[in-house]
Amino acid sequence: MLKKYITNHLFFDTMRSEVLNTAAQRNVFLSPDALQIILSNPEPMMFVNNILSYISKSTMFVGKEDVLTFISGGLSKSESKPVAPKNKRQHDISVVPGTDITGESTCEGKVEDFTRYFMSRYNMIRDMLKRRLGSSLPIEKATSVSREVQVIGMVSESSVTKNGHRTLTLEDESGSCKVLVLKDSNISDIIVNDEVIGVVGSPTRDGKMLVAQEIVRPGVSHEPWVPSDSVASVAFLSDIHVGSHTFLDSRWDAMTKWLRENAKKMDLDYIILPGDVVDGIGIFPGQQEELSVDDIYMQYYRLAERLKDIPDHIKIVLQPGNHDAVRPAEPQPALSSVFAKKFDSNVMLTANPVCLSIEGRSVLAYHGRSIDDWVASVQRLTYDDPVAIMKEMLERRHLAPMYGMKTALAPEKKDYLVIEKKPDIFVTGHVHGANTIEHCGVRLIAASTWQDQTDFQRMHNFNPKPGIMPIVHLGTGNTIMKGF
Ligand SMILES: [Fe+2]
Ligand SMILES: [Fe+2]
Repeated sequence: MLKKYITNHLFFDTMRSEVLNTAAQRNVFLSPDALQIILSNPEPMMFVNNILSYISKSTMFVGKEDVLTFISGGLSKSESKPVAPKNKRQHDISVVPGTDITGESTCEGKVEDFTRYFMSRYNMIRDMLKRRLGSSLPIEKATSVSREVQVIGMVSESSVTKNGHRTLTLEDESGSCKVLVLKDSNISDIIVNDEVIGVVGSPTRDGKMLVAQEIVRPGVSHEPWVPSDSVASVAFLSDIHVGSHTFLDSRWDAMTKWLRENAKKMDLDYIILPGDVVDGIGIFPGQQEELSVDDIYMQYYRLAERLKDIPDHIKIVLQPGNHDAVRPAEPQPALSSVFAKKFDSNVMLTANPVCLSIEGRSVLAYHGRSIDDWVASVQRLTYDDPVAIMKEMLERRHLAPMYGMKTALAPEKKDYLVIEKKPDIFVTGHVHGANTIEHCGVRLIAASTWQDQTDFQRMHNFNPKPGIMPIVHLGTGNTIMKGF
């Protein structure tokens, strides 16, 4: 009992601070009685965000009367943005040009395609690194000078010596060289094959290698989320896996019921499905034993029925994952219309990965297949912490640097897996985990699943976190993980 009291008390205190901080970020002061009403709401954060979105930009004080007026629907929205009436919602969503492979694939898998593909990756990330490093030398010349140098190259090989030092082979257009990373240096131990890095180092006397003093990555700026006047929210439903025996019917029903009751009130106008929308056929050995629907067309028909449970005013973005009926090599084009016949017009089909612009926010959506490769390559990255892996992706500005592992990469003329622009929101699925953190102003989201643990997952000691819907407010960036 005491424990429960303490837990509740702590929760209340935390929520109180979060509500006050959120208001303070907008330079708004909440009166004690206004705060009390807000905290008595079952969803205080959502409630305060809605109030902050509705008040005029010049408002600096919110009292009890204001909150009560808001509840009765009388508070007018910010004067800076006319908002469409509730029954005439206008969506503001588009695919960022150049981020969707659908209809743009040209690769045939020839050697020239691979050369062009890796050059595209190298050039895009080199340009980002140049902005951080300034000048750099071609690798061919770097080991022949007797001073500190800066080079930019792709890691083609990485190994650890008997003494615990690390050696890398770094390549650029001019040639390749060995780089020694001493074990006592403060350089991150996470270096993966085929990532593009900058190295600040000194050549050894014999000119055979560079000794690294620093490894530089493109990274992302540390600018925080800048609030906007958008009042809408976006939610994420990953890895639905319709067609599996372990699809969680009742939790899906609870979620859609909640949406029908709340989505309009809170301007939840967008939902993104980051892949594995159905369980597919023949994805892993023995999968047929785990299927309730063993026809791929029927799986998408059933999915269409499930999506009809979601209120019509919500724009749904559907991208494929490795269980879906598109090519497995990434970037994956959008699902063919052959499978989408039964979808309503509010469903929009995109590639994987894709970058969307939603009410001025950029949302990078990637199914997350490469997480398997990150976990296999780096000991301290685990399936239990997918957002830590997403941070590594952002640091390298690449979603799947490692070539030749589980993630098949199609050698397109441009590397669509390069993160060209810092997103506001970055979402992945695939590992069926649920978590969110903020990293350098970016909301990182692991978007759960609607499938319970399968026998296959149990065998591999893999514990999903199903039935959780992350929701991000596009104006304030506030994020909640709504469980069902
Ligand atoms: Fe999945
Ligand atoms: Fe997946």
